[in-house]
Amino acid sequence: MSASVPAGLTELLKGYTLEVLRRRPADLLEFAVLYFTRLREQRSSSRRSPVTRGEAFDRSSSGGEDEEEQRREEEEEEEEVAPPPSKCNRRVSVCAEAYNPDEDEDEGSDQRVVHPKTDAQRQRLQEACRDILLFKTLEQDQFAEVLDSMFEVLVKPGECIINQGDDGDNFYVIERGVFEIVIQKDGVSRCVGCYDHKGSFGELALMYNTPRAATIRASQEGALWALDRATFHRLIVKNNAKKRKMYETFIESAPLLKSLQLSERMKIVDVVGMKTFSDGELIIRQGDSADCFYIVESGEVKIMIRSKTQAGQRSQREVEVARCSRGQYFGELALVTNKPRAASVYAAGETKCLVIDVQAFERLLGSCKEILKRNIHQYEQQLLAVFGSSVDLKH
Ligand code: CMP
Ligand code: CMP
Repeated sequence: MSASVPAGLTELLKGYTLEVLRRRPADLLEFAVLYFTRLREQRSSSRRSPVTRGEAFDRSSSGGEDEEEQRREEEEEEEEVAPPPSKCNRRVSVCAEAYNPDEDEDEGSDQRVVHPKTDAQRQRLQEACRDILLFKTLEQDQFAEVLDSMFEVLVKPGECIINQGDDGDNFYVIERGVFEIVIQKDGVSRCVGCYDHKGSFGELALMYNTPRAATIRASQEGALWALDRATFHRLIVKNNAKKRKMYETFIESAPLLKSLQLSERMKIVDVVGMKTFSDGELIIRQGDSADCFYIVESGEVKIMIRSKTQAGQRSQREVEVARCSRGQYFGELALVTNKPRAASVYAAGETKCLVIDVQAFERLLGSCKEILKRNIHQYEQQLLAVFGSSVDLKH
């Protein structure tokens, strides 16, 4: 008997899986019943007529008692599917808000938040947000809206900006300052890393509707830009849903990520950014420190290495050792070995790459290093072929 996958099944299951990841319900079966019932209701109501928020209000205010009753039921249902209550009530309503980013199609205009800024502030904000991956795939007007909604937070030494276990309120981008990442496990608090005058934090609780996974404490006086939860949802989470649609097929076909489970791949999409490089543009400089790796989406890159002279000095002459094209990844080696970049990488023609922040990757998937480590021996062989001497890239 030949079995083909019915049209729409994959999408349906992906949607459900995604909501499970976001909301982490205790009872998967119960959650499935609620999820699919709600989906069916949405489908039939959108077939009847697309109901905007305004219309729904008009109908209920014109005396539609059935509609009102249905709305009440839906609200109750939303509360039911929320994860177990945490110490703060806000969590429950927030879950409803997070239910499905595709739902709030019409929320935009009336919920826009603008925090006025001076030109100097806006410039500092723009600079701080330049390399934030989560913003990289936003349309220009969405990015402008994000910038409008952000507000400045000045912090004092020792101040905790986020406390592990709390509900998420804001996402933060660092303008300046050093921030420790502290995680408490089995009653022991450990500093697992720090942010040094750049980067962002606080996205996990907002994206997946989970309690804060770490405490973030300022080691010195600093400045942050905060994006409130509702705007984060409306613009970033929703954009992630779009990104998922755009990159899913590609990510499924990228050899590196093929071995991941569907739920893992979806999380990857949430944290990738996209960058376009022009012909000859330097993407990675040999010797630099590393915080991300890349997968070629279109075009090609050249891997160039400065060999060592006999005296052990790096020569200035670069030799091409390899090329990477669609689906292939590069820039992972320094992350795996904790060493500087082993080669320079240039775009050969216009090239588009997915950029994956390694910290984000590891926070979501645990150690990616084991997957990435597998191919190091290939590089050692390439180098042997090009330079005629053996190289141990791992040590
Ligand atoms: P969130 O869970 O919302 O709040 C704490 C933040 O710390 C988290 O999002 C991440 O942005 C950030 N963070 C940095 N390193 C880690 C880590 N190792 N585990 C969890 N969160 C981390
Ligand atoms: P990384 O060292 O982070 O930055 C340069 C990247 O070039 C490296 O990771 C690998 O992904 C890629 N690369 C491809 N071929 C080689 C090679 N033979 N030696 C070193 N790096 C290589």
